[in-house]
Amino acid sequence: MSATYKIIEHEYDVIVVGAGGAGLRATLGMAERGLSTACISKVFPTRSHTVAAQGGISAALANMGEDDWRFHMYDTVKGSDWLGDQDAIEYMCREAIPAVIELEHYGVPFSRTADGKIYQRAFGGMTTHYGRGTAQRTCAAADKTGHAILHTLYQQALKHKAEFFVEYIVLDLIMQDGECRGVLAWCLDDGSLHLFKAHVTVLATGGYGRTFFSCTSAHTVTGDGNAMVLRAGLPLQDMEFVQFHPTGIYGAGCLITEGVRGEGGYLTNSEGERFMERYAPSAKDLASRDVVSRAMTIEINEGRGVGKLKDHIHLHIEHLDPAIIHERLPGIAETSKIFAGIDVTREPIPVLPTVHYNMGGIPTNYKAEVVTLAGGNPDSIVPGLMAIGEAACVSVHGANRLGSNSLLDLVVFGRSAAIRCAELIKPRTAHKPLAKSACDQAIARFDKIRHASGSRSTADIRLDMQKTMQAKAAVFRTQATLDEGIDAIVKVRESFAEVGVKDKSLIWNTDLVETLELDNLLAQAVVTLIAAGNRQESRGGHAREDYPKRDDEQWLKHTLTWLMNDRVNIDYRPVHLYTLTDEVDAIPPKERIY
Ligand code: FUM
Repeated sequence: MSATYKIIEHEYDVIVVGAGGAGLRATLGMAERGLSTACISKVFPTRSHTVAAQGGISAALANMGEDDWRFHMYDTVKGSDWLGDQDAIEYMCREAIPAVIELEHYGVPFSRTADGKIYQRAFGGMTTHYGRGTAQRTCAAADKTGHAILHTLYQQALKHKAEFFVEYIVLDLIMQDGECRGVLAWCLDDGSLHLFKAHVTVLATGGYGRTFFSCTSAHTVTGDGNAMVLRAGLPLQDMEFVQFHPTGIYGAGCLITEGVRGEGGYLTNSEGERFMERYAPSAKDLASRDVVSRAMTIEINEGRGVGKLKDHIHLHIEHLDPAIIHERLPGIAETSKIFAGIDVTREPIPVLPTVHYNMGGIPTNYKAEVVTLAGGNPDSIVPGLMAIGEAACVSVHGANRLGSNSLLDLVVFGRSAAIRCAELIKPRTAHKPLAKSACDQAIARFDKIRHASGSRSTADIRLDMQKTMQAKAAVFRTQATLDEGIDAIVKVRESFAEVGVKDKSLIWNTDLVETLELDNLLAQAVVTLIAAGNRQESRGGHAREDYPKRDDEQWLKHTLTWLMNDRVNIDYRPVHLYTLTDEVDAIPPKERIY
């Protein structure tokens, strides 16, 4: 049964979809620049997943020892296993310094050194002098840095009169003549549908961690923007690169920050050995996440895991002064008590590599504009569409992200999107006319899922997907496991045709919300496995046992995946191996930081 829906129309210069760190920083920046801005979010802004970010935000402030943005850039390029775009990495590492000072001025309650400067801790892969020393570069608000940043940005956005549409589910992009003209959204509170017209739509919709069974992501992390991009016939980039954080709590998956190891914590196996000394003799427990996650997996696979089943690893901070734990790591002490039942001042924390971050996403340039491969141009801009944060693949993280570069990516590229929109849009310009049928496709999908009456529950299909991803897109991969995974995930996606939505109402229908999210997750699970099966080398988070080496001759390129009529098409974009320096003069003095 199909329904006709009344649609309420809105017009803004810019709409931002998502109210995590990236979405709020962009919203604030747009509002500060006089652009009429609406931020649409499926959760209350301060409940967005950025609230869970713990350890900190990187910036070469040099508050706790020598540092330089060039060291930060070097570490990020190396950490990305050379797949990162170097123009974007340069932009992020240079902009990190003013971006963090700006956060401080906005009111983020950073922890402090004795002389009142922002406190900075060591994080994996962060070095001085191009790998020779250890940098303390991660600016922290205890172990609740995301919480501190998110609340401050929300307050600032309200101060600048940005408008929020909270608990609205964005259903799809409205595309016309190859341009994005806005979005169609569903208001959970009263069941109404809303057409938001905008000159620019900024997707800040986060990653898709919930394709996996065990992840550090909130249940809302379903990559809705990525799926809308696929439905719009545009590609996603580098989806094969999924990051496992070394220290998720065994069984529960909750994050235990890398800041624990930055404060002196270390990992041991069943023999009590600090095994990271064997795998990474200089960086040890502070090697980059891909290295530590692989080492832990090898220890477990070779029978040196801890616990009855020998299937996890111990993380120790019992040797630290309880006063330091109380001051700098109060959140993980509480989380460990609740989810592992242990007192971190006395016992080790049981941990396991857990899905944490998607390096892949919507391809963009460093100005946050979405790009695609069109007419032979790999940097062809999609007018009216931007993406930022974990939804985007800008690509500053390449094949592997360094810890604390994510909060940085959110604020730097959120700000960059606002700067670019101010260049592109004259406030309150009239909107181009939209075709009468502009919303038809989006409504047809919504209606079809709403009235689905099959025999399978959303929860069952989701579990099949999550188990498949966990088993087949794991830390170590082979062609055989990936091919099995592709067959299995394609079948799981096909089984979505049998889904049944019991609640047909429009008000606070969480059955329908979860089913729409599952549809989004399934599309991303399929492209992730197919992209992983396609890349026959090991690089960063993509570790192939059958192709153990990085192969720059064949694979120093970004993968693009389109999902068209249930078929995945693959093509490539070159990695930007050039820096930005020559463009300095093109940046207006007001925005220039160097
Ligand atoms: O370990 C952490 O605190 C996580 C930080 C990050 O993913 O950047």
